[in-house]
Amino acid sequence: MSEDLQNIAKKIVNNGKGILAADESTNTIKKRFESINVESNEKTRSSYRDMLFSTPEISKYISGVILFEETFFQKNEDGESLKDKLQNIDCCPGIKIDQGLEEISKDSIETFTNGIETLNDRIKPFVENGAKFTKWRAVINIGENMPSADCIKKNSYLLSEYALISQNNGLVPIVEPEVIMEGSHSLDECYEVTKETLNRVFNDLKKKEINLKGMLLKPNMVVPGSKSGIDLNTKEIAEKTLKCLKETVPNEVTGIVFLSGGLSSLNATMILNEINKLNDAPWNLSFSYGRALQEDALKAWAGKNENKNKVQEIFLHRAKMNSLACNGKWETSLENE
Ligand code: 13P
Repeated sequence: MSEDLQNIAKKIVNNGKGILAADESTNTIKKRFESINVESNEKTRSSYRDMLFSTPEISKYISGVILFEETFFQKNEDGESLKDKLQNIDCCPGIKIDQGLEEISKDSIETFTNGIETLNDRIKPFVENGAKFTKWRAVINIGENMPSADCIKKNSYLLSEYALISQNNGLVPIVEPEVIMEGSHSLDECYEVTKETLNRVFNDLKKKEINLKGMLLKPNMVVPGSKSGIDLNTKEIAEKTLKCLKETVPNEVTGIVFLSGGLSSLNATMILNEINKLNDAPWNLSFSYGRALQEDALKAWAGKNENKNKVQEIFLHRAKMNSLACNGKWETSLENE
């Protein structure tokens, strides 16, 4: 089983491929749809995601898709399963298995991730129905008195418990400790907090003897806070991100798939490209983007299925640009292809 886990992890990050995070919860996708004045209901969610998954040639660049529970068992208007559609193009279906965030205490915005007690039972239907991997997202905020030691400790512990249950059920865990970009912190503060978090996470993963070759890490890039007023310097971000990862992530880990965390589509591509241009890391460095892959496609859709060809063209282009960035081969001129 451990060999299978490693092979799946490798397959996801090899050959310049990455992940589409299409696992927005019902609340989050509602907000995304509101931004284009589209009502979110089962039908619109299915149409939109079905359109993305049906994009011709998408599996050249996308090796896996993270799904929300509804989508995993959903069928499109023609009665085709969305998950089977991915399997048919050799794209691994995965499942967001955490149950969202809960505040640690009433007087703080710090959270822990829900769902560990029931995880071993909840994971079974996904194992039985062909899921290849799972995702669990923990959130760490930077601000006054944040993160607290308790927040990092609790979330790291839960991530390691989750990774163990996922591997015991034969599914590759995508361990996502997200240091949130929102805030007025500096690049160095993000670096320090990310480093502390990743150290703690890998400490806990090792304590539980997690098979590091059979997991993927989904971290944030080391960036200044979105309200800091500091301009993004992609080269500096790439260097700091790589430095932070090298100091914390064991070489055995098969791959690192970044989240986009609110970066624009273009910035997410440019930074990934810079990171891979430095090209001296022991792991494959790829993407697991939600917003940065979908933002442009979502706008082009505008809730109208007659825009399908345009949406797919835009989505394919973004996926291709990020795939090139996985090899440090992206260039500005390619954006206007
Ligand atoms: P973003 O790339 O939009 O941050 O989403 C990735 C994700 O899966 C968050 O859990």
